[in-house]
Amino acid sequence: MAFDNLLVTGGCGFIGSNFIRTLLEKAGFAGRVVNVDKLTYAGNPENLSDLEKRFPGRYVFLREDICGLERMDAIFTEYGIDAVCHFAAESHVDRSIKRPAEFIFTNIVGTFNLLEAARNHAEGFRLFHHVSTDEVYGSLGKEGLFTETTPYKPNSPYSASKASSDHLVRAYFKTYGLPVTISNCSNNYGPWQFPEKLIPLITLNALEGKPLPVYGDGRNVRDWLYVEDHCEAIWTIMNKGRRGETYNIGGNSEEENIAVVHGICDILDEIRPRSGAGPRRELITFVKDRPGHDWRYAIDSSKLQSELGWAPRESFRTGLRKTIRWYLENSQWVSRVQSGEYLKWIDEHYGSGGK
Ligand code: NAD
Ligand code: TYD
Repeated sequence: MAFDNLLVTGGCGFIGSNFIRTLLEKAGFAGRVVNVDKLTYAGNPENLSDLEKRFPGRYVFLREDICGLERMDAIFTEYGIDAVCHFAAESHVDRSIKRPAEFIFTNIVGTFNLLEAARNHAEGFRLFHHVSTDEVYGSLGKEGLFTETTPYKPNSPYSASKASSDHLVRAYFKTYGLPVTISNCSNNYGPWQFPEKLIPLITLNALEGKPLPVYGDGRNVRDWLYVEDHCEAIWTIMNKGRRGETYNIGGNSEEENIAVVHGICDILDEIRPRSGAGPRRELITFVKDRPGHDWRYAIDSSKLQSELGWAPRESFRTGLRKTIRWYLENSQWVSRVQSGEYLKWIDEHYGSGGK
């Protein structure tokens, strides 16, 4: 299926910026990408600063808030939007525990607005793809995997807000016949991830010799997927997925958090040894557990694999090494993010409309 004018929301964030690069550089997408992003702390247009020049007329960036329905409507009209890939969200569980309000506005009301804008422009509209998380299914015990029919049981304000948005998307398919697809994916890692999430946070702290905070006993399990594999899965679903369907995406890479932290320490000790100090594992500090901390996530992605022929390319071992190298090789990006310089740049270029 060809899309001419694809609205990507949240394209300056971690997964969205990788997705836009995948589309323009690798996937053979021939249309135009319109990237709508509010530029919160998690959005950094420097992630994509080369694209406007390299792909003239094919990449447009608009600093906009998806909570503004009138603006979303106007963008659909002005750019002839015929498909949406919706990433924009507040995405960090710990922040949702401290300050849930923004999660409700962006993740629920923002998704509702985009659905309304799509419904208002239904003629010629081809697809609304909603990017969601496996956290909507709640927490697993030792056994079992999340499938597309696992009942929703979200435990954090983040996952509850994503669950709510998933339901809205599904309802617009059932009630209005809006062409939609939904994907629920496990934990991502890779280039351009904001260093509040486990893997970049531990990598950068370990490089700087700072404590490595591990929640609880470190035995919680996550199922890790390299971000480019996620992007390819989304594009496969958008092109070949059955409308109205949900597809689970996962990497078959379950790891205990403590094993992930050990892995990062060991790779860094090997490629960037500390002078005059012991192994980085010594920096591990067990800290108070996260309230409502989900114990285990693990995805069964056999529907996506057997129906649409997608499979992850990267193993956790190779992907983790690649990711750590990226953070080492992009120290300028890291220091601009850590110092907040990127926020000053945003204010100078776009005014102080974010947060
Ligand atoms: P991120 O926090 O890195 O990026 C989110 C982007 O959305 C940022 O660029 C931010 O500026 C933008 N944004 C936030 N509020 C907005 C608003 N009101 N209007 C417009 N833009 C706004 O998030 P991410 O990790 O790239 O996640 C992207 C999507 O994928 C989210 O929907 C998330 O729920 C989902 N997801 C993430 C993971 C993961 O491991 N990171 C896993 C599964 C699903
Ligand atoms: P995170 O990257 O925040 O993703 P999510 O909560 O969406 O799974 O956390 C991944 C796991 O790592 C989760 O079990 C919480 C844990 N964690 C720590 O132990 N220490 C940390 O500093 C962070 C940020 C997370």
